[in-house]
Amino acid sequence: MSALIAPSILSADFANLERDLGAIATADYAHVDVMDNHFVPNLTLGLPIFERLVQVSPVPIDAHLMIADPDRWAPGYAEAGAASVTFHAEAATAPVRLARELRRLGSRAGLALRPATSVEPFLDLLPEFDMLLVMTVEPGFGGQSFIEGTLPKIRRIRDAVSEAGLDVWIQVDGGVSRATIERAAEAGANVFVAGSAVYGAENIPEEIAALRALAEG
Ligand code: DX5
Ligand code: ZN
Repeated sequence: MSALIAPSILSADFANLERDLGAIATADYAHVDVMDNHFVPNLTLGLPIFERLVQVSPVPIDAHLMIADPDRWAPGYAEAGAASVTFHAEAATAPVRLARELRRLGSRAGLALRPATSVEPFLDLLPEFDMLLVMTVEPGFGGQSFIEGTLPKIRRIRDAVSEAGLDVWIQVDGGVSRATIERAAEAGANVFVAGSAVYGAENIPEEIAALRALAEG
């Protein structure tokens, strides 16, 4: 399966975001982590900065909203021009209504699950989403280590997607590196977020290519 690489700008230099987006021009998406200090204990950026990132990015933007009340805030990110908007299952009041709204606004709709959140209650709703994001660390910070215990959940989703004949992407986010990406891909993931692995690399295009090659096996 072809692998999509989405470097996370959480590990970029926040004083040089335009430059650091330019550095990942060979990636498939730029992953932008929006954190609100409520849903997660960290704060990054909001709509005014996001709108500018969409304008200057050489690649489409994949928004990952780690925020409370996405029902209220997520549509703004679709309106700003995000190619994909992913909100958390634990935070949304009406995930299906919100996903439909995001699609109506022209964005792909993603549903994110924290490591301890079961996918079972959402399996019947897969057709409502373009992507499921399996968090492979507790959301909030870059540079944490990959939680191997999330692999069965990736497999479970891949099986359900195949059985239903759907084209729902499966994204992994957290601790993805040359050391872990193959296991995530074998379990069924096809979209790979990597923050510290990409921005910590000496040669960023080379790192993106290496991750893609490993994921594609
Ligand atoms: C963490 C964020 C991730 C983060 C991943 O909550 O959602 O996107 O940037 O960073 P690494 O790849 O360093 O684990
Ligand atoms: Zn993320």
